[in-house]
Amino acid sequence: MANPFKPSAGSTPPLLVGRGEVLDDFAAALADGAGAPGRLAFVTGARGVGKTVMLTKMGDIAHAEGWVVIDETATGGLIDRLTRSVRAARHETGVLDRPRTRGFSFGIATLGTISKDYELAPADPHDLRIEIGRLLDSPIMADGGLLITVDEIHTIDTDELEQLAAITQHLIREDRNIALVMAGIPQAVDQLLADNAQRPRVSTFLRRAEMVVLGKVDEADVADSFLQTARDADRAWPAEIARECATATGGYPFMIQLVGYHTWRTEQGTEITNEHAQRGIAVARRKIGQLVHAPALQDLSDVDKTILVAMAQDDGPSRSSDIAQRIGKNTSYVSVYKGRLERSGLIEVLPNGTLSFSTPELREYLREHAAHYAMATTGPDEVAP
Ligand SMILES: Nc1ncnc2c1ncn2[C@@H]1O[C@H](COP(=O)(O)OP(=O)(O)OP(=O)(O)O)[C@@H](O)[C@H]1O
Ligand SMILES: [Mg+2]
Repeated sequence: MANPFKPSAGSTPPLLVGRGEVLDDFAAALADGAGAPGRLAFVTGARGVGKTVMLTKMGDIAHAEGWVVIDETATGGLIDRLTRSVRAARHETGVLDRPRTRGFSFGIATLGTISKDYELAPADPHDLRIEIGRLLDSPIMADGGLLITVDEIHTIDTDELEQLAAITQHLIREDRNIALVMAGIPQAVDQLLADNAQRPRVSTFLRRAEMVVLGKVDEADVADSFLQTARDADRAWPAEIARECATATGGYPFMIQLVGYHTWRTEQGTEITNEHAQRGIAVARRKIGQLVHAPALQDLSDVDKTILVAMAQDDGPSRSSDIAQRIGKNTSYVSVYKGRLERSGLIEVLPNGTLSFSTPELREYLREHAAHYAMATTGPDEVAP
């Protein structure tokens, strides 16, 4: 039997742990009718926390309610691709184009008259709004709407963002059945807001979007999901061992799939043993660095990384004053970065003000790669936003 776990970016897991409330809220936003706040949303959270999967699940909900769902990534040409997809969806609903061709005829003395139909160039940006209107006017869309999901929002081109904002705002104002959910890491969302502060239309649009911040999930729910997955496959996974595996995930979604996959995979018989679990956990710990931590660290500034490396010297939560001392700065300098790192989802600031890592194995990964990441300690100060 195939391994049910899916430890790769964007793959839908066998069981989605701990996101029931977010999905219920989204379903309610669809049911609440045009203009419901949750219909314009940003899904954000650290790398590997499950943003792409959340877009897929939201799409499934909308689809089940009879909506048309279009999933896109924010790379160049977004508006053009959306226009084409909406047009294709409209064709599927049975509403075809009015004749969109224009006849040309011209005479060439010796050959007589040649005439040909030329198709009009498609996908002029302002077509998108018209196309969406025509799709939603289709009789079979009477009860449904259109959900557009846009992943990797940091790659969006400013002009395309402006167009998307204008189109969405018009459609919302017209009480159209439309929902737009965008996803990206918190730094990208912050950056979008900062970059567009001087563009009233875009910044109002971005600020109106509901923020859906994804974090880690409850370890008890992770253990339950392991047990459920085993039951579904008729395999024995003793509760004690499932709990230990769950603890090793730290409730971190990518790690759930890694531990699940490598534990499951190591078995030969019908029962998952402690030995399988220990091996699975060890492999998962090795893999998460390259799959999640390396790309997450790449998103950060040198000072952010230096602070994380300084934190990794501690075996538990770090005090700001110790970090400041280690990097040769004062505590107010550290506190600016502390806020940034907390928003990125990589660390938590505990009630007593100490800093703790949020993702499993990040400390160990940083210790191993300290030489590579701690480069800014003696460099010039960065200006924090
Ligand atoms: N709620 C969840 N329960 C169990 N597994 C999950 C959950 N959410 C995501 N996963 C798993 O975690 C991994 C990462 O998910 P996903 O690719 O959606 O993360 P992401 O936030 O989009 O990451 P990135 O920022 O790198 O794009 C996938 O293997 C997915 O199956
Ligand atoms: Mg993703």
